[in-house]
Amino acid sequence: MDQWTLIKELIKLTPEKKWQSGGPSWLVPTGRRDGRISSSNQASNMPSPLDPVSVQKQKFSAKGLDVHDLVTLLGAHTIGQTDCRFFSYRLYNFTTTGNADPTINQSFLELLQAQCPKNGDGLRKVALDKDSPVKFDVSYFKNVRDGSGVLESDQRLWEDPATKSVVQNYAGNIRGILGLRFEFEFPKAMIKLSSIEVKAGSQGEIRKIEMDCFDALSITKSDSVLYKIVREISSMKNEFR
Ligand code: HEM
Repeated sequence: MDQWTLIKELIKLTPEKKWQSGGPSWLVPTGRRDGRISSSNQASNMPSPLDPVSVQKQKFSAKGLDVHDLVTLLGAHTIGQTDCRFFSYRLYNFTTTGNADPTINQSFLELLQAQCPKNGDGLRKVALDKDSPVKFDVSYFKNVRDGSGVLESDQRLWEDPATKSVVQNYAGNIRGILGLRFEFEFPKAMIKLSSIEVKAGSQGEIRKIEMDCFDALSITKSDSVLYKIVREISSMKNEFR
């Protein structure tokens, strides 16, 4: 592949990705400082799929995110998958009488039990949104409403009055001024999420563009036309700062 073909391919990438899932896009604030290392030890206070809503709320609130942000961001589970091990405990011996979690819709329970048999492979993948796992839409909220949330943390959103009201809003047919529109609210919540604890002053670093792909294509960074364009744009941006 020559460099111009590479550039054309890269330019095509973004719209295509958006088109595939049908999800919203938004401008990400750039040029901010970020940490120099990423460590899982420092992520120990992450929400767990076993967390009740009270704990989910408290963990999000500790980062400046409210109930509306919590439910909106969890709507990201409209795409993707989860391992059986994160929820199969809901399918067998969940209650003291040996039954499954009673909040799971009966037909959905049968589907999940078929996908994650008792003592089966815990690493087997199941869609987080049974209806449209590769489409960015509101069916995640409809699933929560209908007892078809896969993770316990998702399903519990229907039991707390504050989170339930936001789920209802997204799942329902009310639009415009009366209702919240997921595709508009999600980008706002993502920008809020990305603005948490941004480093300032001499902390961290402003990440440089890494182009390891050039090595794979045997093009040196400094010779690459794309690299020159990016460098040109960066210097223009600096002049306007
Ligand atoms: C209470 C908060 C949350 C909990 C407990 C939670 C839990 C989980 C779990 C257990 C999985 C499955 C991981 C696996 O099996 O490998 C998952 C997947 C996923 N989560 Fe979350 N999550 C939360 C919040 C979020 C947020 C805020 C976002 C994004 C804004 C998000 C986006 C995703 C996506 C896209 C996947 C699918 C990943 C894939 O298919 O590989 N989640 N989540």
